[in-house]
Amino acid sequence: MQDILTLGIETSCDETAAAVLKDGREILSNVISTQIPLHQKFGGVVPEIASRKHILNIMPVIDEAIKSAGIELNEVNQIAVTYGPGLVGALLVGVSAAKTLAFALEVPLIAVNHLEGHIFANFLSRVDLEPPFLSLIVSGGHTALIVVRDYNNFEMLGQTRDDAAGEAFDKIARVMNLPYPGGPEIDKLAKIGNAEAIEFPIAKVDDYDFSFSGLKSAVLNYLNSAKMKGVEINNADVAASFQKAVINALVQKTISVAKKLNTKKIVLAGGVAANSALEATLRTSCEICGFDFFYPSKILCTDNAAMIACRGFYQSQINDFASDRLNAMPALGL
Ligand code: KG4
Ligand code: ZN
Repeated sequence: MQDILTLGIETSCDETAAAVLKDGREILSNVISTQIPLHQKFGGVVPEIASRKHILNIMPVIDEAIKSAGIELNEVNQIAVTYGPGLVGALLVGVSAAKTLAFALEVPLIAVNHLEGHIFANFLSRVDLEPPFLSLIVSGGHTALIVVRDYNNFEMLGQTRDDAAGEAFDKIARVMNLPYPGGPEIDKLAKIGNAEAIEFPIAKVDDYDFSFSGLKSAVLNYLNSAKMKGVEINNADVAASFQKAVINALVQKTISVAKKLNTKKIVLAGGVAANSALEATLRTSCEICGFDFFYPSKILCTDNAAMIACRGFYQSQINDFASDRLNAMPALGL
């Protein structure tokens, strides 16, 4: 059978990305142009600046993905693009580029949900991974537990009722004057801090949901009251103690849900999966409880187009193609 080459395109937030995938799981190229330095001076992503930068970047990034895959553009068999959730202006750049190319090349277009893409990053890192499994997605915008029954059959069991875990990392980092994005900075600082120094609360939420706003307020209160009393703040201890509370909340809930569902495999996904302490804690808990543990390589944890191409490939297997009227859906759910 002839190889299927999927071009993936991702522009949902602050990375302009394109990738070429051979069949379901072989990455031929994975190009990511990050806008992080551009947004850093504002302390977060500025949507209008992100859209403008995507417009400038999109064609050079696609050209680079085609070139480094060692193929010609007209060899692409199908195009998979993120159409939500994300920033509307940013998404529209990728969707418009994908629609235009699909029309010009006369190839099918596939509309990919960004969150599903994050889960599928795991299929690229581990060729032996097969559904069913329980997935914990932790990104800047989402924190959710999802049952993946098959390649095209998912169920969202629960999600955060307020802040996403990544959002909490970014907000706390901002208050501590650390650069954007805060997650990697807190991760770095936590390595030299004492995680037992401050006891921050973990929200007790029923069912399958999470909550991080109480923890965020507790950290902010701690920092404000120390400042007011003139008490010296040890940023590394705050980072380590906060990170421990987030990780405990994520790991305890995931393990208890996995036991309830009698799951065999647990799969970590999303930008916060790049956090080494989260990965290590969930891995250890999985080992103790007898679950197989999967998580993507660092470059596939945060936003990329290889994961979008992978999700798109499996959609194409069930003829789940989009029309040329595809639009961006910023608030798309799973
Ligand atoms: O999945 P992602 O790249 O974008 C979204 O879809 O949201 O996730 C970005 C989030 C940001 O909140 C960032 O601070 C967080 O992932 N992040 C981390 C780490 N690396 C990225 N959080 C904690 N530790 C890290 N090492
Ligand atoms: Zn993402």
